[in-house]
Order: sequence, then structure tokens, then C-alpha cells
Amino acid sequence: MAYLLALDQGTSSSRSIVFDSAGAIVAMAQRELPQIYPQPGWVEHDPLEIWAAQLATAREALARAGIAARDVAALGITNQRETAVVWNRRTGQPIHHAIVWQDRRGEPLCAQLRAQGHADLIQQRTGLRVDSYFSATKLRWLLDHVPGARAQAERGELAFGTIDSWLLWQLTGGALHATDVSNASRTMLYDIHRHAWDAELLELLQVPAALMPQVLPSSADYGRTAETLLGAPVRIGGVAGDQQSALFGQACLKEGMAKNTYGTGCFLLMHTGPRAIRSTNNLVTTAACSFAEALPREGAGLGGGGRPAGATLPSNAYALEGSVFVGGAVVQWMRDGLHAIESSAHIEALAASVPDAGGVVLVPAFTGLGAPYWQPDARGTITGLTRGSTVAHVARAALESIAYQSAALLQAMTRDAAAAGAAPVAELRVDGGASVNNLLMQFQADLLGIPVVRPAVTETTALGAAYLAGLSCGVYAGAEELQAQWKVERRFTPTLPRERADELMARWEQAVRQATAA
Ligand code: G3P
Repeated sequence: MAYLLALDQGTSSSRSIVFDSAGAIVAMAQRELPQIYPQPGWVEHDPLEIWAAQLATAREALARAGIAARDVAALGITNQRETAVVWNRRTGQPIHHAIVWQDRRGEPLCAQLRAQGHADLIQQRTGLRVDSYFSATKLRWLLDHVPGARAQAERGELAFGTIDSWLLWQLTGGALHATDVSNASRTMLYDIHRHAWDAELLELLQVPAALMPQVLPSSADYGRTAETLLGAPVRIGGVAGDQQSALFGQACLKEGMAKNTYGTGCFLLMHTGPRAIRSTNNLVTTAACSFAEALPREGAGLGGGGRPAGATLPSNAYALEGSVFVGGAVVQWMRDGLHAIESSAHIEALAASVPDAGGVVLVPAFTGLGAPYWQPDARGTITGLTRGSTVAHVARAALESIAYQSAALLQAMTRDAAAAGAAPVAELRVDGGASVNNLLMQFQADLLGIPVVRPAVTETTALGAAYLAGLSCGVYAGAEELQAQWKVERRFTPTLPRERADELMARWEQAVRQATAA
């Protein structure tokens, strides 16, 4: 039996999971990651803390599995995306804390870019809308605010990376400064069609090209871990941003297949095959996981100059994505803000104690609204309260808000897919913490009008990274093998009449309008 090690560096924790080649979890280790909030709207992480925790969990997971590094066929990295780190190439020291994807400090620059009319070019090249969610304005802030950073960057002394690049650098003892296409596509600096850093956008954002990592396929040979880190060198065979990795781990490998991850936020991705569909419904176009065989033979990395300018990958893979900023976090708010429940798990029983939300609608726009609304100034709103409303109705409305926001994303995706003549989504595969909530999953299916399917292994983010690593080192012959491993745990079939679902969605949209006007 071959083993695969997945390093899953998320926003709130660093985890490592050992999988066997059948995709079953053998052992796991996890450490919480301290969040740093220097001022309202700003979120940072300490990159050295991230690295220390990640390494510690990798060692712990191997020990718990009772295996040694030499038993691991390959390791894969998956990570919180967009979070920006800049470090010194000689010392390996970060020049500042990492600026986390949730951080909004880049917004004034984004507003300026929009006002100057650059949004269209940026969407055309990168598939993204101009927003401080993506890495570019975080990197620019670091260059503008850390003393001496810009001059050092221009001299080639600094390296920029998302968290995958930072971990790769550390794991290889500074030998590799690289990222994969799925992470590169979240920076707002990467041309997702030509597969190269975009010189024009680098100039527009005033980012010296010398900072940028080499871009490789998600499943490829990323070298070996430094000799002493894990006891023996381990091959690094896969890298992907966590949401694209989950899409892969859910075996959504073909056009029209979609997954939704119910974490702190919700991330809904639909595979669109080799076509980058440009959204006209406020979603983003992003690179899905790609493979080493897609590389031209002499390829020294897709952005590394080892291939003729303008050449494209033969097996490009893309996805449409919508991100909801407050998903499962609304349950935490019910617990910590309202003290309505003792633990997150209690919400299902409280919500189930009433037959429906009794007309109450909760829009959890705590940090504005993400896709498909993109309303940074919207604020949390509860509508439909009556004298008969109880905390159970509010709890039910809180749960339902997760499903409403996800349904709005899927509706936007369906419109984009139809406009492009692409296949519609036939079922939604789900994972993440809140996907264990049966009430929520049933309501989700009822709103969507398509089955919601929960797999046997819900650690799909880590599994995706393990699969990418396993594919690049020959543990798996091809993607078909992965399709066969994916198993259903439970299927939620819609039971609500469509007219009723439409009425509910209309009421939700009305409440969103109120939240936006607030
Ligand atoms: O785009 C942000 C996303 O990658 C964060 O994922 O799971 O760390 O909250 P997570």
C-alpha cells in the first residue's frame, strides 16, 4: 500500500493528513493558527508560525500513522489562497506578516483601478473582478509600506508567494520558488489564457517581475523536501489552492461538475472543462488543477521562459467560482455573538424544533456581501420578525442563509453556463464543516432543485492534494481511477415544489436588497 501525505494550510489551522492510495485517512494532525487583527478590516498571519505549525503537523501525522518519510510516495500541498507573503531570498525571513485573503486594506487601490477603467482588461486577462480579496493589492501594499521593500524587490532580493510558494520554499530549503496555476490564477497578475505573469498588469500594479514565482502545473515534480525535515527527502508532487483542490478531491473533473465547500465561507466551483467561461453574472473565472503532461517538453515552468511566447497548454482546465464570505461563520455568530447555542452542533436541533423560519430571513452581511452581490457596504440584516418569532426561528434563518447564498451562486453559474452553451450542473457535491448538517443539506437541495450529494470522505481539500501528488508519481494511472474511488455517503433529493422554492428565493433577494440599503 502506498501512502500520500497532504499538507493542508487553511485560514484557521494547519493540518497534515496521511492517506492510503485507496483515499482512506490513515492519520491526521492539526494546529490552530493565531489570527492577527492589527485594525478593523485587516487580517494577518505570521508566516514563520505557519511554517512551524505545518512542519510539526506533518511530523505528527507520520508518527500517528506509524510510518516513516521513506514510506511516503509523495506529498501534496493545498492552501488558503490569495494570502500574500514576501520574504528575503538570502535570509528566508519574511519582510512582514502575511496579508490574509480576508484583509480589505487594498480596497482604495482597487477603487482607483476601477475608476481608471481597468476592470475590463483585468477580467479579460485574469478572469477576476477587481477586488482586494485577490493578492495583487496586498503585494502592492507591502512594497509601498515596508521600508526599503521596493528597492530590494527591484534588485531581485525578495520573493513573493502565496502560502503554497512559502511552504515550497521552506520545504525545499530555499531551492524552489514556485507556485501552481490554480494559486497563480488568484493573484490578479496572471494571464489564465496564456499561462504567464502578465507584464502589463505587473506594470499597472507596479510589481517588479523579479518577485514572481515560477508557475508549474498542479500535478508535477516539485522536487524533494530538504534532507532533515521529515527524516528523509520526500517527493513533492502536487500543489493546488484549497478550493480547486477540493474540486479535484470531489472528482469533479469534467465540465458541469460542481462542488460547494461549507466552511467559514462557502466556495462553489463548477468545472468548465478546457474553456475559460467569462462570467457576466458576477462570478470569477479561475484555473482548475492542471497536469504535468500538459507542459511543453522543455518547459522550465509555465512562466519560466522555457516555452515559446504565446503557446498554450494542451489540457487547460478552468472553473467558474463564487465565494460567500460568511457561511458557517453565521453559526459561530449564533454561538459567540448571540449566545443562542452552546456549540455549533446544537444549531441543527434548535432549527429543527420549528417547522420553518416563520418568515424570518437573516442576511449575514457582516463583512459586506461577496459573490454574486459584491456589496462591500452591506450589513447584517434580519427581516420578517413578528411577535411570535423565537430564537429557534432565527437559528433556522441563520442556517438557511448559508443555503440561500449558495443557491444565488448556483443560479448565477447556471446563467453563465447557459450563455456559453455549456452543460448545466446536474448535482452538487458538498464538503466542509457545515455539510454534516442534514437539515441544511436538505434545504439546499430543495432550493436548488437538484440533488445535493455528500461523499464518504469529506476531507476533500486534503484528498485533492494527495491525489495530485499520487498522479504525478505514478501511484495512480489516471483520473478515471480517482473517479472510481469517489463514493456517496448520502444523497439529498429535492422535495419542495419549484414554485415554493422560487418564492423563497424571491423573499431572500428582497432581504438582500434591504441589507444593501442599510
Ligand atoms: O479564497 C480563500 C480560501 O482559499 C480560504 O479557504 O478553507 O482556508 O477558509 P479556507
